Amino acid sequence: MPLFAVGWSLGAQQKAVAPTPPMGWNSWNHFRGKVDDATIRSTAEAMVSSGMRDAGYVYVNIDDTWEGERDAQGNIHSNEKFPDMKALADFVHSKGLKLGIYSSPGAKTCAKFEGSLGHEQQDANTYAAWGIDYLKYDLCGLRDQMKAAGSAEAAHKVMFDAYMKMHDALRATGRPIVYSLCQYGVDSVWAWGPQVGGNLWRTTGDINDKYARMAEIGFSQAGLSRFAGPGHWNDPDMLEVGNGGMSAEEYRTHMSLWAILAAPLLAGNDLSTMTEETKAMLTNRDVIAVDQDPGGRQGDRIDAEGPIEVWARPLEGGAVAIGIFNRLSVPLEAHVNFRKAGFAGDVRARDLWRGTDLGRLPAEYSVQVPGHGVIFLRVTK
Ligand code: GLA
Repeated sequence: MPLFAVGWSLGAQQKAVAPTPPMGWNSWNHFRGKVDDATIRSTAEAMVSSGMRDAGYVYVNIDDTWEGERDAQGNIHSNEKFPDMKALADFVHSKGLKLGIYSSPGAKTCAKFEGSLGHEQQDANTYAAWGIDYLKYDLCGLRDQMKAAGSAEAAHKVMFDAYMKMHDALRATGRPIVYSLCQYGVDSVWAWGPQVGGNLWRTTGDINDKYARMAEIGFSQAGLSRFAGPGHWNDPDMLEVGNGGMSAEEYRTHMSLWAILAAPLLAGNDLSTMTEETKAMLTNRDVIAVDQDPGGRQGDRIDAEGPIEVWARPLEGGAVAIGIFNRLSVPLEAHVNFRKAGFAGDVRARDLWRGTDLGRLPAEYSVQVPGHGVIFLRVTK
């Protein structure tokens, strides 16, 4: 049955394109305005040769700065960095990958390139004709219209309607396109994102490649688990793993927390030059399995003792992923009570970063956690 046949419902379409959190890569964190056709091609090639595609990373997403001028008919064209978007999509698809793109509901994007205001259906049709599979739609340029609306309620309506308009436009193309809302959590987007067809929505402002910012974003997600599920995910922003601003310990915290949060895993580094350590981190099968758990239940914080935080994510089949995090920069002993994660007594555990089975652990367990680090476990009864 075609995806958009009679009986189509928002939920069904949303689940069809993002049954688990999208995985892939995005150009912004590393390349910013320097992304071009060659970058996308070499990224696609590296995604395959590094084993990332086979580990589940499929979207290659072009962020801001690809946009050129509109022609006399109002059709958007890519700029000189992207001579032929359709040919690029064909190339990416030939590698067994998908291509993503970026726009704004405003007249201009955050980097002041052409946005989609007044051209929503035309742009959606262009993306579909090129073979685009994913759209990140970034609020930036709509802020003038929101300000002019006069009240918080009216501004919300301007934003809501703008996101709905692009959702309808994408849907009308008949092509399944993942719809990523980027508006930094304004007006608690998690509460209404699914209504405008969002498959994922950014819950915060931009991440950067420093532990302080990554931790501020990641640990501030407590309490959001109930808003996520198959087809509609909270998005605490793209990964910085491999960009060089954090230690390996800190990047493991980043990946573990994102997996517990059922966050999209969009690598943000240069895949063509990454180290073996970065590759191993991004492709850790046990960690990815937590992120991509078919149950689609986001995890949440279950305990804290000062800088020690314990987060748990229920997995299909009764297992629980447990992250024991130390937010201080020096090692600390953590005390974990597995009863708080729903277990009756002692448990069986696997250490997901060391890749070792730990055998049985007592219900009340003490463990040394490195500074800014994590002990990431898969626990069963
Ligand atoms: C905003 C977004 C970023 C990136 C830039 C591009 O800041 O939050 O993720 O897309 O715009 O200009």
